Amino acid sequence: MSIKNKMNTRFKDLQGGLFSKVTKADVGEGAGQLIQNGYTVMAWADPFFPDPSIPESVKKTMISEIQNGFPSHYTMPMGDRKLREVIAKRIQNTYHMTLDPSRNILITPGSDSGLLYAMLPFLNEGDEVLIPDPSYPSNFVNAKLCGGKAVHVPLKPENGYQFDIDEFEKRVTDHTKMVLITHPNNPTGTVFNKQSIMSLCDFVKKHDLVLVCDQAFEDHIYDDREMIAPMSVEGMFERTITTFSISKGLGLSGFRVGYIVANDELMDVYYGGAVNVLGATNTLAQKAAITALEDESIIHDYHERLLRRRDIAYRILNSIPHVKAILPESGILSWIDISELGTSQEVAAYLLDKAHISVNEGTPYGLQGEGYLRIVHACFWDDEDAIKALNKIKECLIQLAVEKKLD
Ligand SMILES: Cc1ncc(COP(=O)(O)O)c(C=O)c1O
Repeated sequence: MSIKNKMNTRFKDLQGGLFSKVTKADVGEGAGQLIQNGYTVMAWADPFFPDPSIPESVKKTMISEIQNGFPSHYTMPMGDRKLREVIAKRIQNTYHMTLDPSRNILITPGSDSGLLYAMLPFLNEGDEVLIPDPSYPSNFVNAKLCGGKAVHVPLKPENGYQFDIDEFEKRVTDHTKMVLITHPNNPTGTVFNKQSIMSLCDFVKKHDLVLVCDQAFEDHIYDDREMIAPMSVEGMFERTITTFSISKGLGLSGFRVGYIVANDELMDVYYGGAVNVLGATNTLAQKAAITALEDESIIHDYHERLLRRRDIAYRILNSIPHVKAILPESGILSWIDISELGTSQEVAAYLLDKAHISVNEGTPYGLQGEGYLRIVHACFWDDEDAIKALNKIKECLIQLAVEKKLD
């Protein structure tokens, strides 16, 4: 009998990474090999990948930190004090909330580990977690890794992928412990509007639940949409754990810096377990993150760049016959309905084979993902490279429609 059978049921079924079924693009080696073989990877939510993109001010900090020799040492497990102060200031400016850097903020090695850690202390075996579908694949896996059960709550394109609280109400049981949302959402780019957020908060309070809110994509919101953080809604801070990242908005995914915000009663536990579960985040990366967050020109420049890219991608993808693109309200991702052309798996495999472009099938994003593809339109630094890749997708899907005799 395989030694693997001795693993617990939470972990035993894990295999090769979230998208291993597709191209293994999310398993590092796989993406590297695709690139080496001349493929284009548009399946990684990593701004400007694979082009170099460290801002000059951040580079300067890193060089001077290396020269002073300090990054050979740990920071405290809760993270660099200056970084926590900068984050507190940022949250004050964005959400008008006053946080204590030493009681409400924990630096994490990226927000993926922060997300799992945010959930871990709450879930007992069998606890149910309500998770909007489609959403970030890790959400469903994390519920299981923590011993809980993911309960999918459908979001519908006809509602602009906003919450329908009746769908949450229908799925509440005595075992429901938590609601987990990605806001803005990955893969749809939806920024949950005031009605969605307020009704969700009422629902969470009414049923005495915990809310975990992943705001990894909060930095680039388009068309003057309002970004409401649930933690800032009255009566929610004491029951909301919010996770953040510098990977998406600041394009610094390789630094592995994220953070958790929670009230001090909860944070007491997170600080208490930080060294066991997370260890301290990389010291050099934290120093670099301070500069990245303080240099406002970075986010400003990226915002213009990513908005332009969003518009380019929407124009090209929406001009493909038999494809419906959804205008992303935030971020770096396009979510397109290709159901007239085939299944997600079939169309993604066709693009990989004919265009040598890897995109994500919609299915790992939940039960609503069949018939959709996710395309990371913010790959490459230069617009021209992205335009070339998007046009290649267009040509290829036009050819697929011809082969399927759809015209
Ligand atoms: C919604 C969402 N949350 C969190 C993460 C993880 O980001 P980080 O690089 O901070 O671990 C990702 C990465 O793709 C994501 O899409």
